[in-house]
Amino acid sequence: MSGLKHFLDINHHDLSVLSDIMDRSTTMKTALKMGKFDYPLAGRTLVMIFEKPSTRTRVSFQVGFQQMGGMTVVMGDQESQLGRGETLADTARVLSRYADAIMIRTDDPQKLKDLADYASIPVINGLTDASHPCQIIADIMTFQEHRGSIAGRTVAWVGDGNNVTTSWIHAAVQFGFTLKLGCPDSLQPDAGVLAWAKEKGGDIALADTAQEAVEGADLVTTDTWVSMGDKDAGRRTQVLMPFRVDAALMDHAASDALFMHCLPAHRGEEVTEEVIDGDQSVIWDEAENRLHAQKGILSWCLQ
Ligand code: CP
Ligand code: NVA
Repeated sequence: MSGLKHFLDINHHDLSVLSDIMDRSTTMKTALKMGKFDYPLAGRTLVMIFEKPSTRTRVSFQVGFQQMGGMTVVMGDQESQLGRGETLADTARVLSRYADAIMIRTDDPQKLKDLADYASIPVINGLTDASHPCQIIADIMTFQEHRGSIAGRTVAWVGDGNNVTTSWIHAAVQFGFTLKLGCPDSLQPDAGVLAWAKEKGGDIALADTAQEAVEGADLVTTDTWVSMGDKDAGRRTQVLMPFRVDAALMDHAASDALFMHCLPAHRGEEVTEEVIDGDQSVIWDEAENRLHAQKGILSWCLQ
């Protein structure tokens, strides 16, 4: 092992590291709100590679790194040599001579692994088809700000068993909360991740219906029915229809349950307007916390 502090997946880190990242995020959020800036990453450079679109991840990493005194370079695959076939392994070795950290959003998780294997600087997973760990740091930070420790609480995931679900499963094991998954038979979460969670003794339940998943939950969360790169929108929409989060479904959750969505949302599909804009929704706090969580992750990787 290189000893580099990569941030590739939630399940690579024990609770002490994850709590350290949360604490750093909260400390910097508090300082920012008080108008206090220090520049711990002055003179450092973050390169961000985007092989898929992004609003929140791109802007929060860029603003966050710059608030910490650093500089950022954003690279799309089509305007770099990646688009002409240069390997990520070679790209990793070159970028390591210029920069101090790399954040990548890509499709195949093997590309993330190649980058981390060949870079001599920390690599951060900004989403792959397999997982989205930075999102879940922000989500847990948001839950804990509103409701206290997430340990022992119940989270319901309703909808597609996708990359964000995988990071929730990782988090349920590492943070010690119950996760109830309500996904259609044909869109269940990754079987290998479920097997890992079972082996680790995670409290993960597969529900047959959305109502069963949400029953008594402290947090209800969902995501788009068609992730970036999914080709079968018609079939997905059909099988996911019974998993829409609406007010009737929220009534099955605890009376003070929160609603979260990583965004972008497709209003009227996976969630109705009344829920996403309703009193239980904390989506804007969640989106804001992407900024503070990225800073916590960067601080842990680089300091
Ligand atoms: N939630 C999230 O990662 O959003 P972006 O795709 O806009 O980065
Ligand atoms: N599951 C979604 C998350 C977007 C942030 C996707 O991969 O497109």
